[in-house]
Amino acid sequence: MLAMTGKHATALQETSDAVVELRSISKTYRDLAAVDNVSISVGRGELLCLLGPSGCGKTTTLRIVAGFVEPTSGTVSINNMDMTFQPPHRRDTGMVFQSYALFPHMTVAANIAFGMENLKWARAERDERVREMLRLVELPHLADRLPSQLSGGQQQRIALARALAIRPAVLLLDEPFSNLDAQLRVRMREELREVIRGVEVTTLFVTHDQEEALTMSDRIVVMNAGKIEQIGTPGDIYEKPETSFVAKFIGQCTVLEGIVGADGAFTAKAGLRLPGNWKPGPGCAVIRPEQIKMPSDRPAGVTYKARVVQSHYYGEATRVVIDVNGEQLMMQERFPFGLNPKSGDVLNVTLDTSEIRIIRKNPQS
Ligand SMILES: Nc1ncnc2c1ncn2[C@@H]1O[C@H](COP(=O)(O)OP(=O)(O)O)[C@@H](O)[C@H]1O
Ligand SMILES: [Mg+2]
Repeated sequence: MLAMTGKHATALQETSDAVVELRSISKTYRDLAAVDNVSISVGRGELLCLLGPSGCGKTTTLRIVAGFVEPTSGTVSINNMDMTFQPPHRRDTGMVFQSYALFPHMTVAANIAFGMENLKWARAERDERVREMLRLVELPHLADRLPSQLSGGQQQRIALARALAIRPAVLLLDEPFSNLDAQLRVRMREELREVIRGVEVTTLFVTHDQEEALTMSDRIVVMNAGKIEQIGTPGDIYEKPETSFVAKFIGQCTVLEGIVGADGAFTAKAGLRLPGNWKPGPGCAVIRPEQIKMPSDRPAGVTYKARVVQSHYYGEATRVVIDVNGEQLMMQERFPFGLNPKSGDVLNVTLDTSEIRIIRKNPQS
């Protein structure tokens, strides 16, 4: 590999297949660890999502990759070049900001051409690329508009076109749908996924929306208070959460503290017993609403008597909080018309305990 000197990035001794490699990145503001020892590698063409609650360090991590924030420690490399101290325009990244940040006084075409101009692309090539990008996001007729004359969804697409125009090695997106209404958000999610697949660009995507992360990502990094809780595929994260934080953050669930006895059964604090074959020791049982079923459907599992605490009708299903032997569990069911349970009702419910995951307090056990 070519070793460059002076103000250019230097090739790393240690090469990797990853396009983006964050090694032990930390960012401290006074005494706040906004990002705390984060290591992530993003493979070629991969769509990786940073997911976590507000304030957990997602934007800071993304800005460290883009070069807008300098890490307190750790290194960033892109295509095996050390970029830790390189300015944003030398990193070969395209970024879509949470607020889109289109230049308000410039036309759509000028916005898209901006990065190419900075990189001194020839005029003809630039114009052709602008047209190509407008076709890609299906807005060829808007080239001469100003950003203020666009809807939120259109601005979002132009921001994406601007970020992709320079054919960046890495596309960075910070909550790109947060300013869109719920229906448009779902549609844009699918469109964005298509566009990204089409251009095969390696992508780092930030969101606090678990559904967005589950539907769009190849892999998800779940962050909490500056640290990584778990990295895995959407299936891993939903079905094999490694911490109770991940279980609670992804999807609806009940997490019960308790202990697995010598017989392999789990007993929760209040006494609810779940027969099973787990390894003895303390742990938390993760129970998803869909694992609690109505006995009339003849599911496999153990049947319990439950008292309805709360019942909320959502149209496609009803979410019901039930009390089973002193523990409150959340279930979701489509009840026959007119038969939605009310608080105080008593129901029989069946739990397929073989589907229930026990998280160990000590991950080694
Ligand atoms: N420039 C800054 N100065 C001081 N604190 C900051 C700065 N930027 C971010 N923070 C703090 O770092 C933490 C992580 O912020 P951020 O990365 O924006 O989180 P997220 O994008 O996950 O909501 C927050 O507590 C935030 O207040
Ligand atoms: Mg943010």
